[in-house]
Amino acid sequence: MKFAVLASGNGSNFEVLARSVRSGSIPAELALLLSDKKNAYVRQRARNLQIPEQWLNPQDFPDRRAYDQALKEILTREGIDFVALAGYMRILSAEFVRSYPNKIMNIHPALLPSFPGTDSLYRAYRHGCKVTGVTVHFVDEQVDHGPIILQQPLLITPGMTYEELETRVHEIEHQLYPHAVRLYAAGKLLVKKNHVEIAE
Ligand code: GAR
Repeated sequence: MKFAVLASGNGSNFEVLARSVRSGSIPAELALLLSDKKNAYVRQRARNLQIPEQWLNPQDFPDRRAYDQALKEILTREGIDFVALAGYMRILSAEFVRSYPNKIMNIHPALLPSFPGTDSLYRAYRHGCKVTGVTVHFVDEQVDHGPIILQQPLLITPGMTYEELETRVHEIEHQLYPHAVRLYAAGKLLVKKNHVEIAE
């Protein structure tokens, strides 16, 4: 399996995926990092790890559809048919998502379907939730939506600061995302009517 990561920011999830590939614990090739943000730190991480990376500037395209068409052309040219979103903060066009049915994965810092969208963790914390967590799911045409692959809950204990919560969420993400991609690469995820069965 040859896959690409799409990311817009810091890239800690990208890096754990890359390191899992390198150590052999994900049986796949991470062929490319694509970013919509010129100065995203994730691009530096890719260069440090000597993984090909490319910035695709949204301002060079008239609309989302044209941008995603260019993305698709790059992925096709590179022979990539699986995509992992890792803090990719652009909404994908329906056409793009339809081209990769159950072949785009996303990680989200909440227990979906609660708190989709941006600032999810902060909104859960401010809301006074006693439990939150992390979701890895296949991507459908709605934002932060689609068949759920793995979820891990996390208690928000009394007195926990937002920073402590964020650290815990990242620790969980860094376990959960490589595990989900590993299962996919090993052919162990089966989607049946929006439910994901895992053949362990
Ligand atoms: C992660 O917490 C991920 O769950 C979140 O962006 C962060 C990226 O961190 N994704 C979303 O909110 C998607 N809606 P990273 O750049 O350090 O990997």
